[in-house]
Amino acid sequence: MNVLELRGIHAAYDRIDVLFGVDLEVPESSVVALLGPNGAGKSTALRVAAGLHAPSSGDVLVAGRRVNGVRPEELARRGLCLIPEGRGIFPNLTVRENLRMMSYTGTSEAVIDERAFLRFPRLKERFTQTAGTLSGGEQQMLAMARGLATDPALLILDELSMGLAPIIVEELYEIVAQVAREGVSILVVEQFASTVLGVADFAAIIVHGRIARAGRPAELRDDLSKAYLGA
Ligand SMILES: Nc1ncnc2c1ncn2[C@@H]1O[C@H](COP(=O)(O)OP(=O)(O)O)[C@@H](O)[C@H]1O
Ligand SMILES: [Mg+2]
Repeated sequence: MNVLELRGIHAAYDRIDVLFGVDLEVPESSVVALLGPNGAGKSTALRVAAGLHAPSSGDVLVAGRRVNGVRPEELARRGLCLIPEGRGIFPNLTVRENLRMMSYTGTSEAVIDERAFLRFPRLKERFTQTAGTLSGGEQQMLAMARGLATDPALLILDELSMGLAPIIVEELYEIVAQVAREGVSILVVEQFASTVLGVADFAAIIVHGRIARAGRPAELRDDLSKAYLGA
């Protein structure tokens, strides 16, 4: 069973096509990496998956059911959680306020705090601090803690590593691997590939709105080292 499936997705902004028949599967309890250069259509594909951007054609399936046109809030209720590029936290609110805001989903504040501290002990130390004053890595931890507060079936991460030092990226991906071991499926988008390939079960490379290659990370390493990723 696939937690998420994109079938033949075409998408456009105004009349400009940016996705041209994208197929992507996230099997249950797996980590899937969607990789590709800037402007390839990665974020658009994620926004289509999360119901934030309507495809011009093609189907989005969540747990085997077609969900085209279903509202983002309803998809969230069905277990899909998107952490957008730029993390989507509220910089002027404290860590506590950012976390407790998620209680609108029905999870109690105590459970939300407990889940967050268990995975990210650093957030306990920063609990009363304003989110905007956290380090980049801590902000990403807060974003993930917010997403995981609702116990999603699928966590979607857009450019987890953006702007972070390699050692912090590695630390975050260890947490991603841990979350995956707990049974949460993960779809992660990255522009630069190396760390994510270490935790991904499957990977796909998107170039100019088309999936150029898909397979096991080991099968894709050569393609990734080619010029279009600038590596
Ligand atoms: N809101 C938007 N309006 C118009 N064009 C956009 C918008 N967002 C993205 N695009 C264009 O769509 C293409 C794919 O963008 P995006 O999905 O953000 O790529 P990626 O995440 O891989 O960098 C790019 O050419 C980008 O310029
Ligand atoms: Mg993007």
